[in-house]
Amino acid sequence: MDDALFNGWTEMLEARTGMVLHPARRSFLLTSISIRMREIGFRDPLAYFELLQSNGEGVVEWTTLVDRLTVHETCFYRHPESLQFIREQFLPESLSNHDKPYSLQVWSLGCATGEESYSLAMLIDHHLKSLGGDYYFGVTGTDISLDAIAEAKQATYGPMRLSKLPQSLLEAYFSPVEGGRYRVNESLRRRVCFAKLKIMDIDRAPMGAMDIIYCQNVLIYFERARRFEILNSAARYLAPGGLLILGPGEAPGWKPDGLERINDSNVVAYRRRADAEGSEVKL
Ligand SMILES: C[S@@+](CC[C@H](N)C(=O)[O-])C[C@H]1O[C@@H](n2cnc3c(N)ncnc32)[C@H](O)[C@@H]1O
Repeated sequence: MDDALFNGWTEMLEARTGMVLHPARRSFLLTSISIRMREIGFRDPLAYFELLQSNGEGVVEWTTLVDRLTVHETCFYRHPESLQFIREQFLPESLSNHDKPYSLQVWSLGCATGEESYSLAMLIDHHLKSLGGDYYFGVTGTDISLDAIAEAKQATYGPMRLSKLPQSLLEAYFSPVEGGRYRVNESLRRRVCFAKLKIMDIDRAPMGAMDIIYCQNVLIYFERARRFEILNSAARYLAPGGLLILGPGEAPGWKPDGLERINDSNVVAYRRRADAEGSEVKL
């Protein structure tokens, strides 16, 4: 593939997903494209590129290719410090400021195959159950990859993905299935839903006001200015008192209006001030 065609690929990727592919990842792009071309019997990279510009078949093929070009590496309890913050700081404060029955809406943005979304659901369910009383919560996971979402809905995981999960949560929320794997129990699955969403379309997401938005290991694919745009949009979905959690080092220099940075060296989190105007989205 010559430089002109390579540039065409990176431009198409950025225009359609917002992701920027650095030159260092050139070989990753080339390998992914050539594996896919072989699978569907293409030999000419230009012909494959042109297929992706076409309507119909091109749109379907793009969906498959995007899945190959995105990294879905994830696991349960990937960043325990952020989850601990939610359990020990956010939930107790939020519970004391809310009317009964307590309800909570959570968004896992860039959820991959669902481990992050179910981790949040387990943590919240476990905490609220331990307090007794009436409560409701829901977790929505969104991702650009349809294949990842299909896997998330299956909710079945092998031991590698579960290795960081506290044993008590494994016992409480999973049942063993064949092949040494575990499936999230139905009672928890009912609290979690998944949908396809390109992060660049965040302003058009059909979401209401959120109490927690959790976005880790996704912004790394975007340029700094684009990260800030995405975060400004995400912040507009936060309910008063709502929490935005990012991964360490993912948005240095971001200074959002109406949010305060949480002073905790182990987590990167921002809270919409409880006295701030309501979330800018309709409930
Ligand atoms: C490395 S995984 C992170 C999963 C999870 N948040 C975690 O921290 O374990 C990154 C996810 O971001 C998704 N992603 C990448 N670009 C995206 C985009 N433009 N819109 C929505 N999701 C995107 C990928 O499909 C992938 O599932």
